[in-house]
Amino acid sequence: MSKEYKRTLITTALPYTNGPVHIGHLAGVYVPADIYARYLRLAGRPVTLVGGSDEHGVPITLKARAEGVTPQDIVDRYHALIKKSFEGLGISFDVYSRTTSDIHSETASEFFSHLYENGQFIEKESMQLYDPEAGQFLADRYVTGECPHCHNPKAYGDQCEACGTSLNATDLINPHSAITGSVPELRPTRHWYLPLDRWEPALREWILEGHKEWKSNVYGQCKSWLDMGLQPRAVSRDLSWGVPVPVEGAEGKVLYVWFDAPIGYISNTKELYPESWQTWWKDPETRIINFIGKDNIVFHCIVFPAMLMAYGDNFQLPDNVPANEFLNLEGDKISTSRNWAVWLHEYLEDFPGKQDVLRYVLTANAPETKDNDFTWRDFQARNNNELVAILGNFINRVIVLTHKYFNGIVPAEGQLEDIDKAIYAEMDGLKKSLTDNLENFHFREALKDAMAFARAGNKYLQETEPWKVWKENPARVETVLNVCLQVCASLAVVMEPFMPFMSDKLSKILGLGKLSWDMIGSKPVAAGTTIGQPEFLFEKIDDATIQAQVDRLVETKRQNDIRNFKPAPVQAEISIDDFGKMDLRVGTVISCERVKKADKLLKFSINDGTETPRTIVSGIAKHYEPEALVGKQVIFVANLAPAKIRGIESQGMILSALNADGSLTVASPSTEATPGAQVK
Ligand code: 2FM
Ligand code: ZN
Repeated sequence: MSKEYKRTLITTALPYTNGPVHIGHLAGVYVPADIYARYLRLAGRPVTLVGGSDEHGVPITLKARAEGVTPQDIVDRYHALIKKSFEGLGISFDVYSRTTSDIHSETASEFFSHLYENGQFIEKESMQLYDPEAGQFLADRYVTGECPHCHNPKAYGDQCEACGTSLNATDLINPHSAITGSVPELRPTRHWYLPLDRWEPALREWILEGHKEWKSNVYGQCKSWLDMGLQPRAVSRDLSWGVPVPVEGAEGKVLYVWFDAPIGYISNTKELYPESWQTWWKDPETRIINFIGKDNIVFHCIVFPAMLMAYGDNFQLPDNVPANEFLNLEGDKISTSRNWAVWLHEYLEDFPGKQDVLRYVLTANAPETKDNDFTWRDFQARNNNELVAILGNFINRVIVLTHKYFNGIVPAEGQLEDIDKAIYAEMDGLKKSLTDNLENFHFREALKDAMAFARAGNKYLQETEPWKVWKENPARVETVLNVCLQVCASLAVVMEPFMPFMSDKLSKILGLGKLSWDMIGSKPVAAGTTIGQPEFLFEKIDDATIQAQVDRLVETKRQNDIRNFKPAPVQAEISIDDFGKMDLRVGTVISCERVKKADKLLKFSINDGTETPRTIVSGIAKHYEPEALVGKQVIFVANLAPAKIRGIESQGMILSALNADGSLTVASPSTEATPGAQVK
């Protein structure tokens, strides 16, 4: 931060209301933004945290169409769910509103009209894709086709998710309507374009010269956009869902969702502060910070700033845009459509009272500089080995000991020894590093600093050993526990931005009242006051709980595999004579056992209608328990040349189907057949 500001306006990307929020959203945007807002509040600096739902855009209308409901039904459902789950996780929005509110459509309309009246748009007719069957133009996600850059066959009309390139629908090779599947035709239509090229010199100066301190991923993306040269961008669409274009003769046209959504930051501030909102947007003493994911960089660093510059009237540009990279889940990209996610509302149901654990894990593993991976095993390990074993353990021991030796009354600090002075000095150093990391959006490092208070506390307790000293020197124990309680108080403060629920419990136990950043290391626990009873701030999470989550993901993957299954190409044609050479028969399994030292093989003994049972070795041991097959009927190739497998002569082959998810199903007659009967 190059200058002192009077206030900070923090905005968080408005999530689309076509689904619930997941851990990728949280790690990328909402948890870091909340940490920062909470830190500023503790530091006594005026701050407003703005959030809200992004309720326009094609994905919402597509979902409504798929479910046979209205777009309003969809956004009502998800707005309510998202808002409630953010509250559940303790995201401390000062306002969480929505872009279907009246105040938003008024604000967005006024913004457009102001630019329109001031000649800030180019109006032009162009040829756009039109679906004659659906009777509408196909903008953005209404059309899919092949990406002209990476040749991904499933690129959207606004973006290719495989290579990240932003596209126009007409760029797609082989476009198809996402509504009817038909091949669209080109028809002329009129739209308004924001000439970004007009703002290129100002944007270059502002970002490339003025904000070299931005994160390298953000700065780098902006530089490459600017170096490619900016083009006019359409800010309207031929759709019925959205804010109507406020120009005469523009019936059937709405504002492009990426034009109206960022204005949502302004309208939500207006809703919160009807009288003073302009102070938060137009006073140069306000610092604006946009928390977003990396896919939103261009809109926040190029398009929205160009809109604000075009509007004029002293609208302030963001001072920083600390965009995060992406969080993956168990090694795979998080995806709403593939249901490959940990959904916040489900987490809150499955792990009641464990909001802080998720906040902790997502911060400790935040994708700040590169994509990162969330795994349930890591979640469990961080909870059990860090939160329970280090942080919870220290606090619990201190509170229990204070009750044991002093009936819960805070003992006075006596003569400080070197070890006592050392821990205060260490806290001083940690506070500096923590503050510096928070100021610079290095939240992972900041959390490490905060945890270092707990590690220091544990070490201090281990070295001072009050339980050993108590008998001969109770006065020393008074000082030691006083120091420990002060460390706990500092922990309540330093953990508040990261884990507000535990911080709140701890500060109540210690009777701290309103927390502030100044309390760190400043001995706020008064001697002679009585502290509360110990309570577990964290509890171990067992293997079964984690396994249930892993199983759920395994099942999701299985269902996705089935949904995306493409049967293998049919092999070269054979004649009826070729087929006739194959002797397929039914047999009943008399016994079945694993082949020693071969984890894939089962040895079958089969009643094939003859007097001598037939032996067949089959590679299906990973898919079936041998006992489960005894008594079952199978279909086997009876005239396959015998082969020695692991020293056993196999006299045929059992047929099975290879399923989409990689599992095998043994082929069996649907009703009891005679052993030895031929299958034709
Ligand atoms: O990517 C998204 O989820 C968008 N809905 C973010 C919008 S941010 C802002 F501009 F509103
Ligand atoms: Zn591509």
